[in-house]
Parts: sequence; C-alpha cells; structure tokens
Amino acid sequence: MWFKILVLAAFAIFSAGFACSPQNSEYRGVLIAENDSYEASIYRQNCAICHGKEALGKEVDGQLVPSLRFGDAAKRTDDEIYQQIANGKLPMPSFKGQLTEEEIRRMVVFVRKDLQGRETQD
Ligand code: HEC
Repeated sequence: MWFKILVLAAFAIFSAGFACSPQNSEYRGVLIAENDSYEASIYRQNCAICHGKEALGKEVDGQLVPSLRFGDAAKRTDDEIYQQIANGKLPMPSFKGQLTEEEIRRMVVFVRKDLQGRETQD
C-alpha cells in the first residue's frame, strides 16, 4: 500500500518535471518572434501559418503539421529540407515560385541551425 503511494508520488513528481522541461528545451533554438533576421521574417510570412509561430507544429484543418524543431524534421538532410521547401509535398505547397533559390538555401540553414541547433552539411 505505502509502496504504491510512494510510486505514485514519485511518478507525479517525475511527470511534473517532465511537463515543465519541454518548455525550456523547445526554445533551444532561436525564438522566432524575437528574431529580426531576414529568414525569420520569411518564416513568419510563409511558414508560420502551418508550422506554428514558433515552428512547434500546429493543427490545420484537422491535420497535424509537424514541428520543424523536433521529430522527423530534425532527421532530415539539408537536401531533403531543400527539396521539401522547393518542391513541396502535399499538402505543403512548393515555394519555388515565391522564394528564390538563395532564399530557400537560407531557409534550410535557418531550419537546421537556428531552429534545430544542428550544423549544416553540404
Ligand atoms: C499549407 C501549409 C504549409 C506551409 C505554408 C508550409 N508547410 Fe512545411 N509542411 C507542411 C506539412 C503538412 C508537412 C508534412 C508533409 C508530410 O507529411 O510529408 C510539412 C513538412 C515540412 C518539412 C519536413 C518536416 C519533416 O517532418 O520532415 C519542412 C522542412 C518544412 N515543411 C518546411 C517548411 C518551410 C521552411 C515553410 C515556409 C517556407 C513551410 N514548410 C511552409 C505544411 C506546410
């Protein structure tokens, strides 16, 4: 009986800590709202509507748009991220017509370095 309570208490403390910690780690990368780089403004204008203001993912029309900071996005190579932005992948539109090649490249670096805290590869 006491053991059960102890386990429950330990679990409660553990999960409380767990619930708090993502908030800190979510912003391991830059805070987009406070970032005045060119890339952050491209993000706010073109990407935030689906991926969320801070790129943490969002539900759009009942569909879950992934975070660009965590999960699968953080496993993508530069080329895969480039292709995704340039060509899109339904339901994400292609940005070839809206962004120049240079801007798409800068967005790849923005996603990898500023949002995910990873180094870029060639
Ligand atoms: C209309 C909504 C929409 C907009 C606007 C949009 N995206 Fe997406 N994006 C998506 C969806 C949905 C996916 C997941 C596609 C899939 O399931 O493969 C995605 C996937 C991605 C991925 C791959 C993530 C992964 O998990 O592998 C990257 C990188 C990405 N988007 C970057 C961007 C960038 C940068 C912009 C702005 C230039 C942008 N997206 C704008 C909807 C959008």
